[in-house]
Amino acid sequence: MAWPELHGAAVAGIVDRVAQRYRRDPTCLVQILREVQEACDWIPPEAIDRLQVVLGVPRTKIEGVAGFYSFFYTRPRGRYRILFSDNITDRMGGNMALMERLCAALWIEPGKVSEDGLVSVDKTSCTGMCDQGPAMLVNNLAITRLTEARIDAIADLVRDGAPLADWPAEFFAVTDNVQRADLLLGPNPAPGAALRAMVARAPGRSEGGAAAMLEEIRRSNLRGRGGAGFTTALKWEACRNAPLKAGQQRFVVCNADEGEPGTFKDRVLLTAHADLVFEGMTVAAYVLGARRGFLYLRGEYRYLLDPLNAVLQRRREAGLLGADILGIPGADFDLEIHLGAGAYVCGEESALIESLEGKRGTPRNRPPFPVTNGYLDQPTVVNNVETYAAAALIALNGGDWYAGIGTKQSAGTKILSVSGDCARPGIYEYPFGVPVRQVLQDCGAKDVQAVQISGPSGICVSAEEFDRRIGFEDLPTAGAFMVFNHSRDMFEVARNFVHFFQHESCGFCTPCRVGTSLLKNLMDKLHNGHGSPYDFTEIEKLNQILLSMSHCGLGHTACNPVLDTIAKFRPAYERRLEHTDFAPAFDLDRALAAARQMTGRDDPGAHIVPEAFGEEKTS
Ligand SMILES: Cc1cc2nc3c(=O)[nH]c(=O)nc-3n(C[C@H](O)[C@H](O)[C@H](O)COP(=O)(O)O)c2cc1C
Ligand code: SF4
Repeated sequence: MAWPELHGAAVAGIVDRVAQRYRRDPTCLVQILREVQEACDWIPPEAIDRLQVVLGVPRTKIEGVAGFYSFFYTRPRGRYRILFSDNITDRMGGNMALMERLCAALWIEPGKVSEDGLVSVDKTSCTGMCDQGPAMLVNNLAITRLTEARIDAIADLVRDGAPLADWPAEFFAVTDNVQRADLLLGPNPAPGAALRAMVARAPGRSEGGAAAMLEEIRRSNLRGRGGAGFTTALKWEACRNAPLKAGQQRFVVCNADEGEPGTFKDRVLLTAHADLVFEGMTVAAYVLGARRGFLYLRGEYRYLLDPLNAVLQRRREAGLLGADILGIPGADFDLEIHLGAGAYVCGEESALIESLEGKRGTPRNRPPFPVTNGYLDQPTVVNNVETYAAAALIALNGGDWYAGIGTKQSAGTKILSVSGDCARPGIYEYPFGVPVRQVLQDCGAKDVQAVQISGPSGICVSAEEFDRRIGFEDLPTAGAFMVFNHSRDMFEVARNFVHFFQHESCGFCTPCRVGTSLLKNLMDKLHNGHGSPYDFTEIEKLNQILLSMSHCGLGHTACNPVLDTIAKFRPAYERRLEHTDFAPAFDLDRALAAARQMTGRDDPGAHIVPEAFGEEKTS
């Protein structure tokens, strides 16, 4: 029996209801598509027809946006859409065998929809659950700690058509796993305490108050935690000083896209310390004079949407958001949550802004930078979740206090997402400057071969480097800390990362679109035993092209994992070289093997020798 689909009037009714809630605002297209899909299980053509009318947006644009995000489906994908997280740590936990088991139980092939239209099973990039993987998403809701028993239970639930609400609650449990807490992950300050401290330092919402708060941020030496480490005070100041045209305003955006494989610390901050993050955003709004903000939450964290909205509502009721915050006339600021839809590149700040505006998440040309030309072409600050949490603590305790923690160039603490081969994966917060060796000891890692710091786009450190320190002076990181013991094949680690970049390249610029595919093909060729030393030269050439010609950081860093592992774990590559010199990417003899077999010419010693004038014979 085919699963019933919604059609015609029912779909139009859903679209009208959703669009109405978003004020028929085309800049909310990504959110509208998401909600329509949640109601219809996919985005049917009737929905796009209706959206054209109610939003006044051309069909091509709607289709272009729907086609960009991997979590949007313009073809039916079943009532249950199951996606296995495919980070290297999920692989180490056996995710592929579990996926095969589920597919076998449901009589389905990976990537396809079951014949009755009930279910589809596929892979997706890292879902941010590396400390409790292998993990999957079912209709965008995370299920962690997959085991064979859990997979069998899921197969039964799917076959029975059980609504997700009736699935065992423990399947959806996501734990915080805080293993070491410091400033940020310690006890939460009372909601509003940081705002009150800020206002008390320079009473009133005068120019002087905002300038005084900016001065505290400057003194703190806070640098962004999203990876690049840009000085927060400079960013805020540039936005604050950006001229406003008539009708324009400033915006505060929190980047919770957290797509870098192996990173999951923002998930924990937003679960257990959301007030601190929202308070930091409110501090930024005060400094900038911004009245609107957005939290851009990755689609994989859909389960956090309702709890976070509840925190926002509580803060409004407590006078910490909305009009006249803390009773100060004119101190108005509120924020809303936008969910991403499965596109790593949307973590890049200008792509994120495009997505917030309801478009495809294609990175913009920079300059101009978001601080002058951001959301709706107006001055916008984009910061990472952890940066805002730190800003709230600086508002509470002052910049000098913060600058005294950590190291000279890296003030404060850093939250690390530790996963892989260790006894205690989870979240570890340290003052900057902590040696890799210390983290490995604390998380119970033994016989360690390598640590991938800051995800695939970061740095792979080998055992000789374990005295290096986390910090902008030495090992900068957005947070990922993936541990690999000696049983792991570092070539396969790099190959997984390369597949990730190829899959996530947004395709906007040719060097990255083609370059990441070529890189993937080269790694697959090596994996299949067809590699040659010449391929190392090819990889180096690709790196030069990607570095110099890519439009954004994804392309710039795509070769990093391969270059690092070639430099530090070369035997893992050399083992795979069948030939000592050139091996063609296309092996004609091998390609013709099937044809030879079919025509009965499968003599292994046989070669096809072209005769003069086109006749050929086997010898
Ligand atoms: C491909 C790509 C993905 C990114 N993903 C994230 C992300 O998930 N979270 C984040 O905070 N920054 C991410 N960034 C960095 C952002 O562009 C930006 O620098 C950051 O949000 C600024 O915040 P910060 O100053 O607090 O670090 C990414 C950059 C690139 C090039
Ligand atoms: S470098 Fe890659 S991800 Fe970035 S814009 Fe170009 S194609 Fe897109």
